[in-house]
Amino acid sequence: MIVRNAQQMKSIREAAQVAATVLDKMCALVTPGMNTYDLDQAGRRFIDELEAESACYKYQVGSRIYPAYTCLSVNDEVVHGIGSLDRVLREGDIISVDVCTRYNGYIGDNCRTMPVARVAPDVQRLLDVTEASMYEGIKAARLGNRVGKISHAVQRVVEKGGFSVIRDFVGHGVGRNLHEEPQIPNFGKPGNGPKLREGCVVCIEPMVNMGKYSVKMASDGWTALSADGSRSAHFEHTVIINKDGPEILSVPLGKEVPALV
Ligand code: MF3
Ligand code: CO
Repeated sequence: MIVRNAQQMKSIREAAQVAATVLDKMCALVTPGMNTYDLDQAGRRFIDELEAESACYKYQVGSRIYPAYTCLSVNDEVVHGIGSLDRVLREGDIISVDVCTRYNGYIGDNCRTMPVARVAPDVQRLLDVTEASMYEGIKAARLGNRVGKISHAVQRVVEKGGFSVIRDFVGHGVGRNLHEEPQIPNFGKPGNGPKLREGCVVCIEPMVNMGKYSVKMASDGWTALSADGSRSAHFEHTVIINKDGPEILSVPLGKEVPALV
């Protein structure tokens, strides 16, 4: 777990702000009739305008290279969906917009699942519960707590809501690289994992299925889907652990930091 100095923190703060600004601008474009290729390309332009770089474009895992600029996952897609001209958004869909960018040499990473126009009430509840679980996780990200405290807080909210937490993908430390130590599972016991330290920066990102938590891989080699075809939601913030508590860094410039109540 890397602890940052003041200069690094300033850079990290700006990097997270850039990722949040791009996410906001992309979310504002989500509307029925739009396809996810165009939305990804809009993301590419927003990233360009801010003189940042996509941290997922050409991201490599083994021999696989990620081909898009952002991750766009619709309905039963959990994470790492690839924008496509054939994927046209319709009213009632949900879409996870996941933006990770590099700026100042640091990565900012954030995600939000949006309703496309109006969605069914149980689907809206999936979004609300997933977002609430992220905030509970963030609140648990305090000095001296173990990582498991975050995991446990997220899991509690999700399961109380009647949904299930995905096991195959986890949150992570972030910095010069997208995925750093520690891993932050969204399930587990409060006493598990390393202790959180002052100045460490983490991405807290619950992924939640309406049905069972198993996932399967699409034939594109990237897109993860819920195995049972149920809807899936994903919220993520980049957070720094200060002496007096967690601080959300992935907030667009000029926007208010969400209150942790
Ligand atoms: N925010 C995603 C994550 O933390 C970004 C992945 S980049 C990709 O996993 F290339 F794997 F899509
Ligand atoms: Co992430």
